[in-house]
Amino acid sequence: MGLVWSGQAMEAMARVCLDQAWLKNAAVHFVFLSRLDLLGDQWGARGYRYAMLSAGRLGHAVYLGATALGLGACGIGAFYDGEARRLLRLDDHASMLYLVAAGRISGASSP
Ligand SMILES: Cc1cc2nc3c(=O)[nH]c(=O)nc-3n(C[C@H](O)[C@H](O)[C@H](O)COP(=O)(O)O)c2cc1C
Repeated sequence: MGLVWSGQAMEAMARVCLDQAWLKNAAVHFVFLSRLDLLGDQWGARGYRYAMLSAGRLGHAVYLGATALGLGACGIGAFYDGEARRLLRLDDHASMLYLVAAGRISGASSP
C-alpha cells in the first residue's frame, strides 16, 4: 500500500468509472493497481490473472470490513483504463485493476 499522490479525486474518479455519479458520494475509494510490466517476471505467464485475483481478494476484504462496521461497499469493474491511468498519474506500465467504494449506505441509520 502506498501514496501515489494526494488530492480530491472522488468526483473525477466517478466520471472515469463510466459516469457512475453515485460513486462521488462514497466515503472512500480503494483502488487496486498493478505494474503490468513486472507481472510476468514475478508470476510468469499467468501473472495478469493472478493480479486480478489478488485485487478481487483484497476487494473482498474491504467488503467484509465495511460490512462488519455496518457500512456498505461496491466493487467497480466498469471504468476507462486510460482515463484512470491519467487521473492517478500512473505511467504506461501501471494500471488500475479494480476499485471498491465504501461508506455509509444511503438511507441507512448510523452504525
Ligand atoms: C468484479 C466486479 C465488478 C463490478 N462492477 C460494478 C460496476 O462497475 N458498477 C456497479 O454499480 N456495480 C459493480 N459491481 C457490483 C455488482 O453490480 C453487485 O455486487 C451486484 O449487483 C450484487 O448486488 P448486491 O450487492 O445488491 O447483492 C461489480 C462487482 C464485481 C464483483
